[in-house]
Formats: sequence, C-alpha cells, structure tokens
Amino acid sequence: MSFAAPSLPLSRSVEIPFARGLPLVGNLPFILKDPLGFFLRLSRSAGPVVRVNLGRSMGELLLVTDPAVIAHILEGNAANYRKGRFYGRLRAVFGDNIILADGDDWWRRRRLAAPAFSARHLEAAGWVMTSSVSGLMERLERAARQREPVDLFAAFMELTLGVIVKALFGVDIGARAEAITAAVEPVLREGERRVWWPARPPLWVPTPTNRKLRAALAELDRVVYDLIGERRRSGEQREDILDALLAARDDRGEGLTDRQLRDEIVGLIVSGHETTATTLAWTLEALSRHTTVESTVRAELSEILGPRLPLAADLRHLSYMRAVLQEIMRLNPAVWTISRQAVADDIAAGVPIRAGTVVMMPPHVVHRTAVHWPNPEGFDPDRFREGEPKDAGKFTYFPFGGGPRRCLGAHFSMMEMQIVLASLMQRFRFSLIPGSLPEPVVALTVRPRAGLWMIPEIVQPNGA
Ligand code: HEM
Repeated sequence: MSFAAPSLPLSRSVEIPFARGLPLVGNLPFILKDPLGFFLRLSRSAGPVVRVNLGRSMGELLLVTDPAVIAHILEGNAANYRKGRFYGRLRAVFGDNIILADGDDWWRRRRLAAPAFSARHLEAAGWVMTSSVSGLMERLERAARQREPVDLFAAFMELTLGVIVKALFGVDIGARAEAITAAVEPVLREGERRVWWPARPPLWVPTPTNRKLRAALAELDRVVYDLIGERRRSGEQREDILDALLAARDDRGEGLTDRQLRDEIVGLIVSGHETTATTLAWTLEALSRHTTVESTVRAELSEILGPRLPLAADLRHLSYMRAVLQEIMRLNPAVWTISRQAVADDIAAGVPIRAGTVVMMPPHVVHRTAVHWPNPEGFDPDRFREGEPKDAGKFTYFPFGGGPRRCLGAHFSMMEMQIVLASLMQRFRFSLIPGSLPEPVVALTVRPRAGLWMIPEIVQPNGA
C-alpha cells in the first residue's frame, strides 16, 4: 500500500508526544487516506501514548498502544470510560443498543442479552450455521465445475447475515429473512459513512441517501416488529435469540419493550455479521498464499473428521484451525480499533487522562508491535498452537476487546468461522485469481476493497 508518511512535529511541551499534523485539519487527511498505516506508523515513531490532532472541527484523540494503559481503561477502571462521541453518531441509524449504550443502561442491556449466548442457544445456532453453509457449498460446486471465479467476501457477507438473522428469529421465517438482509445493507453503509464523516445531514433532511436509508429503516422495522409481535402473541418457546431476549428480565422483573428489542436486534445484526465475514475472507486469502499452513489444516480435518462434515462437538478438536483463525485475527482484527471517552480525570498506568479525552486503542497496532509479538508482520499460526501465548501478557491480544464489554458473540463467531471453514475446506481448494491480491480498506471493519475473487476447485472429501 502506498502511503506518504506525515511529518510528525512532536512537541514535548507536555509529557505526551503531540502529532500536530497540518494546519486546520490536523492529521485527518492522513487518517482518512490510510487509517491502519497512519496509526501503525505513528505509534512506531512516537511511542505507545500519543496525542493526535484531528483539526479544528474534531479536536484531538489520545492514541494508546501500551497494554497496561489499555487494561486500565477497558478493565481496571472501565466504569470511568464511556463509548463516547465517535459511537454516538451511529445511534441515529443503528438505534440505542448494547453496543452504543453506556453506564447503568448498558449494564441492564448486557444482563438481558447475555442469556441469548448461553451454551443452549449456541448449540441451536450451530445447526443454523451448518445448514446455512450447505447452500453456499452447492453454489461453489457449480462455480467449480464451470471454473468460474466467485467473490468469497460477498458470499461470506450473505452467509453470515443469513446466519445471524436465522439465529435471531429461527430458520423458518422464509422470505422475511431476505427482506431483513436487503434492508440492512443501506443501513450498514450509512453507519460506516457516519463514523468517518461527522457532517452527515440529519435523517429528516430529504437527500437521496437519506430517503433510501429511511425507506430501508422503515422496511426493517416493519419486518422486525411483525416478527416480535407474532412471537409475543403465540407464546411459543424456541431456542433462538429472540426467545432468549423476550424471556430476559432485569432486577426489577422488567423485560425489553418492543422498541428496545428492535434496537438490540439491529445491534446484533450489525455486530455479528461483517466482523465474521471479513475474518473468514482474510483467512482464505492467507491460506491460498501459505500452502504449508493450508496443508496442515487439511491434514487436521482429514484426521479429525475424515469425509464427514463438521459438527459443533468436533470443533474443540480442530485446534490448528483455531490457531489459524487466532493468527488471522492478530494480523487482521475485524474491529481494528476500540475507543472510549473518559468521564472524570484519571491516571491510567501512570498516564494522565483528562475528563472528556477520547482514547483510541487499536488492536491492529498492538498486535503488530514487535515488543509483544516477535516477527510481528509474519503469518505464523504456531504462535497459538497452545492457545493464546502465556508470555505475551494481558491486552497484547484483544481482537474481541476485553473487560466487562468484551464481545458477547466471541464464541458464536468462533463457532461459525470454524464450521464454515471446515466445511468449505473439506470440499474445496481456493486459489486467488492471478494478480488479484485483495487490498484492505477500512469501513466498519477492515474488508477487502474489491472483494475476494477466488476460483474454487473440488478436492476429495477427505481433503486428499
Ligand atoms: C470475528 C468476529 C467478531 C469480532 C472480531 C468482534 C469484535 C468485537 C469487539 C472488539 C467488541 C468490543 C468493542 C468495544 O469494546 O468497544 C465487540 C463487542 C460486541 N460484539 Fe463482537 N465481534 C465479532 C463477532 C460478533 C458476533 C457474531 C456477535 C453477535 C452475534 C457479536 C456481538 C457483540 C456485541 C453485542 C458486542 C457489545 C458488547 C458490549 O458492549 O457489552 N460480535 N465485538
């Protein structure tokens, strides 16, 4: 990736280095051009705690890549940190859900949503995952026979969206699953624009984008409220996430209202699909370039599964495949950065943090820091052979975040990624179209800019 490194006038008038950037706009142009490269370079050149000027309209943020400071903010004194203003912009499109909530409101939502990710519900979700991947396999078989390339990133987005929608509402909602997936797309794209462009017109302004977005939100609401209403009326007990959310009660014995349910549902759809899809895409891309690793994955599949498709119970035995996914999430964490805003003045592992400061803690940068990870740019799943390396230290690896707000869907997504990967790799080998090395682009997650175009080839069921 080409990147003109910004000159970094670091004034050390305060103890923390300051990256001033350009007049008026600060470092914003560099960040918008290549956020991953910018923050990686800045942290390498200026150290683990840096003040970053974002220009007149946006103020500044504190870039933190020191694991001890991160542990304090996300875990030790988490109550002093809110999601803050970067996330606030998403509320108008995504609703008021667990991902964006803060304080007591967040705590209540977390307690109400957690049972939906219990072992019993995960087992039911496992069936949804297995049945959903079979549809993709049929499509890939046709493509393999015709020697046609397939955009696997697009296929994974479709697959993971279908999985979360069916895990939420059950497998039998028919065409309404498609209606939800169609409506979610423009909502996600607008969310992505709002993260980076503060000056988006409010939703009531009738711009073409807003009109499209409002129509999509109306359709999403119509279908979701219908499904909630039907389930409430029928009183039927199911194993899906909606059932768990409807049954959940807080300390006062109160459950979620329809509006709160709708917002949590949209939150889970948003958080639970693109993250998983991008991780899967980067995994297949890496395996196509690292053939020894690929052969080791195939050998493990062949030993543990033989010719049969994976079941949820097999997954704990696929330890090398798990290590591959963990290494992918080290190099390409789908949630590349996490941010918080301080409520009151604080000292985090010796670093003074004033009330109101926005702190940015990018796993993408920490995971690529040589002090914690020798040969940080190298792809080496053996690092995770025995699980997360004990000597790496806390918050040197946190693709699912950490502390009380750690990802609620971590097990769900690991299970989904292993089922999808194991099923696909048993049947197919994938090769990149020559010259089509995908380029990462930062959207809500870090995804391949023009998709992931690969040619599937059918292999023996035992991977031979
Ligand atoms: C590879 C896949 C995934 C990755 C890398 C990932 C990563 C993360 C990260 C880093 C956070 C913490 C954000 C923060 O602290 O600001 C988070 C939160 C969350 N994730 Fe995930 N996630 C993934 C998949 C999922 C799935 C599949 C679901 C649901 C089905 C999900 C649901 C959530 C929820 C509800 C939260 C908010 C938790 C809270 O604030 O209490 N995630 N995720």
